[in-house]
Amino acid sequence: MKNILITGGAGFIGSHVVRLFCNRYPEYHIFNLDALTYAGNLENLRDVEQKPNYTFIKGDICDVEAVQEIFTRHAIDAVVHLAAESHVDRSIRDPLSFARTNVMGTLNLLQAARVAWNDLTDKLFYHVSTDEVYGSLHNPDEFFVETTPYDPQSPYSASKASSDHFVRAFANTFGLPTVVSNCSNNYGPNQFPEKLIPLFINNIRHGKPLPVYGSGDNVRDWIYVEDHARAIDAIFHRGRRGDTYNIGGFNEWRNIDLVRTLVATADRLLGNPAGHSERLITFVADRAGHDLRYAIDSSKLHRELGWQPSLQFEEGVERTVRWYLDNQQWLERVTSGEYANYYRQMYGD
Ligand code: NAD
Ligand code: DAU
Repeated sequence: MKNILITGGAGFIGSHVVRLFCNRYPEYHIFNLDALTYAGNLENLRDVEQKPNYTFIKGDICDVEAVQEIFTRHAIDAVVHLAAESHVDRSIRDPLSFARTNVMGTLNLLQAARVAWNDLTDKLFYHVSTDEVYGSLHNPDEFFVETTPYDPQSPYSASKASSDHFVRAFANTFGLPTVVSNCSNNYGPNQFPEKLIPLFINNIRHGKPLPVYGSGDNVRDWIYVEDHARAIDAIFHRGRRGDTYNIGGFNEWRNIDLVRTLVATADRLLGNPAGHSERLITFVADRAGHDLRYAIDSSKLHRELGWQPSLQFEEGVERTVRWYLDNQQWLERVTSGEYANYYRQMYGD
């Protein structure tokens, strides 16, 4: 039996990782540590919560005593660290909370692992990070590889870059067994509807404007969330300790093209005439410091661990749009309260 601490397991990607690990590895006990911020939702884990190999712990990764106690009380063998503030727009409004959670929270977990793990045999600290640490690409032939120099451009990516550096510093200085992965934009069920894809599907459903930042020419590289979870599984079990893996699906889309695809798919599934919701597309002021293009080269992960995405983008988009249209109550529950205030501040009524 291994005791695995997954942080941020009630969030978007974390919930898919918790589900995969609980189902595939009954010999592991999964401890899900999550503060249940606006982005954490235990409803995402309804199908897992009764499993004998799953325990939820409500707590803050910045809480020094609470985190130390988790390591000793539950004899944690490995960490998969996903808890973070994850939305770039929020980091522009409130950078300090990103430094607190993403930098200090990660450091607190590293320190607790170092203190608890006298014997490092079979221990692992897996840090889940983002491609945004590499900055913004301007040459169309360029891709982010694992050795691309860090050049974070937003408070969010600066906080994630800092946390990555701390993880590597602990590996180098204290010999902590670590692995880092940097992934591109995820999409799929259970993503909080402040991010482009769920926000726009929800707005199409309600006939609300689709606020495309700037010219809509920014490019993102999209991966289905379950494929990211499968990659984490492969790296957790077979990744080289001390190493870094980029995760991505070689699937670049200009924002405006992606938005038109979402509109066409949603209109079809809603039974609207073709092109019906195109009128909702509204170009708005650009995000401050908006990174132009992200594009991940994940060939190392494919070459060394045999991972590749399981889903074609067309199928993933269809599944995703259908999930949000079918799960209107989930959307209503997560968009009430604090999120309604945030939405008014960002986009007006
Ligand atoms: P999310 O915002 O959906 O979920 C974050 C989770 O962390 C929530 O459940 C929240 O309650 C929890 N959390 C926040 N602060 C906490 C704290 N102080 N203590 C304990 N729990 C806390 O995020 P996500 O999109 O699922 O991203 C998960 C991780 O993957 C993040 O580290 C993010 O940087 C990284 N990542 C995300 C993407 C993406 O496209 N979403 C891509 C690459 C990497
Ligand atoms: O690349 C990985 C990163 O992807 C993760 O590390 C982040 O946690 C995740 O939030 C995501 O960051 P982005 O900023 O790329 O995702 P977001 O969904 O916020 O925006 C995607 C693109 O769409 C981006 O170019 C900004 C644009 N956009 C976004 C919103 C919310 C709009 O045009 N309008 C919007 O209202």
